[in-house]
Amino acid sequence: MSAETEVRRRVQKRGKITFAEFMEVALYWPQGGYYTDREPVGANGDYYTSPEVHPAFGALLAVQFYQMWRLMGRPSPFTVLELGAGHGLLCRDISAYATGLPQGFAESLHYICVDRRPANPVESGTPRTSRVLADGAPFRGLQGCVLSNEYLDAFPVHQVVMSGGCLKEVYVGLEGGELVELTGEPSDSGLAGRLDELGITLAEGQTAEINLALDRWSHGIAAALERGFVLTIDYGRTAKDLYDPERRPRGTLVTYHQHVQTDSPLTRIGRQDITAQVDFTSAAGTGEKVGLDTLGLVTQRDFLSNLNVDRFQRHLRDRSLSQRQMQSNRAGILDLVRPGGLGDFKVLIQGKKVGSPALWGLEQSPDATALVESLPVPLLADRHLSLPDGRYPGGEAEFEAL
Ligand SMILES: C[S@@+](CC[C@H](N)C(=O)[O-])C[C@H]1O[C@@H](n2cnc3c(N)ncnc32)[C@H](O)[C@@H]1O
Repeated sequence: MSAETEVRRRVQKRGKITFAEFMEVALYWPQGGYYTDREPVGANGDYYTSPEVHPAFGALLAVQFYQMWRLMGRPSPFTVLELGAGHGLLCRDISAYATGLPQGFAESLHYICVDRRPANPVESGTPRTSRVLADGAPFRGLQGCVLSNEYLDAFPVHQVVMSGGCLKEVYVGLEGGELVELTGEPSDSGLAGRLDELGITLAEGQTAEINLALDRWSHGIAAALERGFVLTIDYGRTAKDLYDPERRPRGTLVTYHQHVQTDSPLTRIGRQDITAQVDFTSAAGTGEKVGLDTLGLVTQRDFLSNLNVDRFQRHLRDRSLSQRQMQSNRAGILDLVRPGGLGDFKVLIQGKKVGSPALWGLEQSPDATALVESLPVPLLADRHLSLPDGRYPGGEAEFEAL
């Protein structure tokens, strides 16, 4: 039964279903849900993510984990629990770069990749990597860091709209045999509760997405982590910005199909990605309720710059590379911090029982600069994309501009 058939079956049985339930089926229905049937990330997929763009992303995360490990008194194992790890390219890049970091960090690093779909894994290259097929974070007693990149934006969201001065919810129903969006009374008091908590009142006619699953996410990671950090990277905004009626009157829900962005979730059901920007105020707020202290929220550009990504650019000159290799590596690193693109992604760091240390990714430190200065720049390998080779759409034009 395809995802669309399942959506229709549910609507026929129950009249209408919430947009969140529709999105859950469209993305994760075991037979033909978007994430169950394909590899969505990369040149042959529908979009690309930072790990594909350049291994400098994973390398600088490894540097940040190294500092966290030291701050925690060098526990062994220091576990990196990556949620929504997909095929594991980021795991491979982090683990590979960790082997060059000082004081035996790599020997303490234990990496767990979790995903709710079975992806075709990239070789991790280290025996200290485990793969777990699971929904959420089914662990206890970990010391280390819970990591995710573009994970929260793949959670099903509810959609609400302000109509006639009342908050309504968007449902998916059937009219004349066609799937359509309908509005009705909110299915969950948590929807109005979330907006109240944020102090947000939607403007008349304004549509917005609400990710109620953030509560479950926070509970899960707080329970999994005995002591350590949570590092969450995604595209999104603070609530005030996200729910701004002038800038985002129709919300932020988009669909991706073969690198083309649209906003028609009821078409190509199960064959296109559906995603919405992350409300980082609620991500941090739900964490605070369960003992996760907010340590900082910065852009990916600032995070990687604080970790001295510019040194990697300079170190490229020290490597004997062909002009082509030099150009593609330079373009990849630049893309990670590009304003208007990946550079505008946000990095949220939370802590549990670690106090409020000065983290290298949140503020520049001479120690981080000295360390990265002494380290080699990682280079693009087969599994990464390459801008000048046109291995991702628009890449060549973008490369010319760079
Ligand atoms: C947008 S992809 C990002 C993949 C990878 N992190 C990257 O940066 O390329 C989101 C991933 O999160 C996974 N995912 C979403 N919700 C999940 C959940 N509740 N538990 C485990 N994995 C989940 C999806 O299956 C998918 O592989």
